[in-house]
Amino acid sequence: MMSGKIVIRKAQERDVTRIHELIRLAKKSGKILKRSKAEIKGLIHHFWVAEENEDVVACCALETYNRKLAEIRSLAVHDRYRGRGIASGLVDRCLREAKKKRVYEVLAITDRENIFKRFGFSEQLHGQKALFARPAFLKMKRLSA
Ligand SMILES: CC(C)(COP(=O)(O)OP(=O)(O)OC[C@H]1O[C@@H](n2cnc3c(N)ncnc32)[C@H](O)[C@@H]1OP(=O)(O)O)[C@@H](O)C(=O)NCCC(=O)NCCS
Repeated sequence: MMSGKIVIRKAQERDVTRIHELIRLAKKSGKILKRSKAEIKGLIHHFWVAEENEDVVACCALETYNRKLAEIRSLAVHDRYRGRGIASGLVDRCLREAKKKRVYEVLAITDRENIFKRFGFSEQLHGQKALFARPAFLKMKRLSA
């Protein structure tokens, strides 16, 4: 396969079906959450895509919750295009966007930490850690009056 130049651009509504397909395929090989077309459509302006020869081959979203926090989500690269730095390029683009928007912290939940650590992501921030809980399974402590 001839490899062409990779172009990263903001996603548009016409990319929804392809992004949905990329996430569906990536789910087979990685830890990534399923997303419906409606959800992707609603968040389309948060997505970036990478294309080669005008084919969309990868996607990533920077979901900005507020000035304090944004999250990099739905990072998916088509399996034929992996190991070429495309995911790293998308993470870089999201971080530039977050910097432009002056977002204070960017979160990534991942089992592919190398991709993120290269940009300075860390499991600890000034001595603090991110903790996760699923309320349905929590051991709740009853506070009696
Ligand atoms: C995880 C995933 C997004 C990585 O995509 P990718 O484009 O292959 O990622 P990159 O090429 O940027 O980095 C992958 C490796 O290639 C190496 N690499 C090769 N060429 C590179 C280049 N030119 N620039 C940067 N890295 C390069 C990197 O060192 C990296 O090594 P690592 O595995 O130690 O991190 C992709 O495998 C995928 O879609 N998986 C399924 C979905 C998934 O797991 N998503 C969750 C991620 S949060």
